[in-house]
Amino acid sequence: MKIGVLGAGAMGSGIAQVASQAGHEVMLLDTNADALVKSKAKLEKVMNRLIEKGRVTAEEATGIQQRIQYGSALTEFKECGLVIEAIIENLDIKKTVFSKLESIVADNCILASNTSSLSIAAIAAACKHSHRVVGIHFFNPAPLMKLVEIIPAIQTSDAVLQAARDLVNSWKKLTVVAKDTPGFIVNRIARPFYGEALRIYEEGIAEPATIDWVMREIGGFRMGPFQLMDYIGNDINFTVTETVFKAFWYDPRYKPAFTQKRLAEAGYLGRKTGKGYYDYSEGAANPEPDRDETKGKAILWRVLVMLINEAADALNLNIASKEDIDTAMTKGVNYPKGLLQWADEIGIQECVEGMDDLYDEYREDRYRCSPLLRRMAAKNQHFFPTKIKQHE
Ligand SMILES: NC(=O)c1ccc[n+]([C@@H]2O[C@H](COP(=O)([O-])OP(=O)(O)OC[C@H]3O[C@@H](n4cnc5c(N)ncnc54)[C@H](O)[C@@H]3O)[C@@H](O)[C@H]2O)c1
Repeated sequence: MKIGVLGAGAMGSGIAQVASQAGHEVMLLDTNADALVKSKAKLEKVMNRLIEKGRVTAEEATGIQQRIQYGSALTEFKECGLVIEAIIENLDIKKTVFSKLESIVADNCILASNTSSLSIAAIAAACKHSHRVVGIHFFNPAPLMKLVEIIPAIQTSDAVLQAARDLVNSWKKLTVVAKDTPGFIVNRIARPFYGEALRIYEEGIAEPATIDWVMREIGGFRMGPFQLMDYIGNDINFTVTETVFKAFWYDPRYKPAFTQKRLAEAGYLGRKTGKGYYDYSEGAANPEPDRDETKGKAILWRVLVMLINEAADALNLNIASKEDIDTAMTKGVNYPKGLLQWADEIGIQECVEGMDDLYDEYREDRYRCSPLLRRMAAKNQHFFPTKIKQHE
């Protein structure tokens, strides 16, 4: 099957590479000729590196490059069985593009969007055959990140959902299915990782270097929240947080932090500008963490219980299955453990008490305990009872 990819930016280029590596002929389109030139050059660089590392042979690399064709007119998608859109994050522009696409491709062509924050239902509504529209959300960089969220809109047919999932699975990706709600799974559940860390910092409880040390060394996370925000870019991370906050009709659980807004405004975007929470200039001395274990454990607990509560609430609202929720966080953002499994190991009652302690202290809706956790604690239930037995 020929795959179409619209938008040759960071995501589109990566997705085209993934599809080509899986053996598909790919048509990669962009209205900006410069983007196409850059995308082609980047792929060549990536392939050379993979050859050096012995991950692909020179012959395979040539095949991957040759299977991708570059162009600018949507009519080039005529033969495609699936088109994945990865253009600018703007609903009106995406709707116009989807409506045009429909007049070009065959009736059975699946139309997918890689949007991070827009409603798939709203995009699908631009099409006459809206049942063929689905969200296929890759993570950045697409060739390296194993997780892909598949998001059926309320209009999407079961057959299209299944076909999209089967196809992406055949690309050696791990798919999870998420309800068409803001942030899908990962970008919703991960919010407290940043938000609660920022809150702890803003309250003067600990500095970024200490919070990062806690999350890495005591929590087992690969990166601390401030390190990660600097890596993602404080502008991008702030925009995602603000978008999710607005999309949830200003639920205080997702409230952005002024600290991050100011960093974004000042241009302290993180690694890409040489300064964020840390200084990345050569020879810069960054602050040492305060390695106080007792204080550290309290910080970890506050962030972790908020993450667990968010995961439990996503399950309570049927955003995804419990298995998919844990897979999404371990494979999408490399969490050391699935949050629901973590909750089982800690004890659901302890998690409820952790949330209630925070609520009692702050009296903010932000700290409300998910009803699911409360119900489960009352019945002494676990998310994964069989795993707990093995664990014990
Ligand atoms: N960057 C990420 O981390 C990330 C992760 C997951 C999903 N996404 C989503 O993927 C999409 C693309 O993001 P990106 O980071 O690759 O953006 P990008 O800015 O790197 O690339 C977008 C490309 O689309 C092209 N484009 C814009 N309008 C077009 C049109 N009408 N027709 C053809 N080409 C057009 C631009 O020229 C540009 O090359 C967005 O919807 C974004 O939300 C981004």
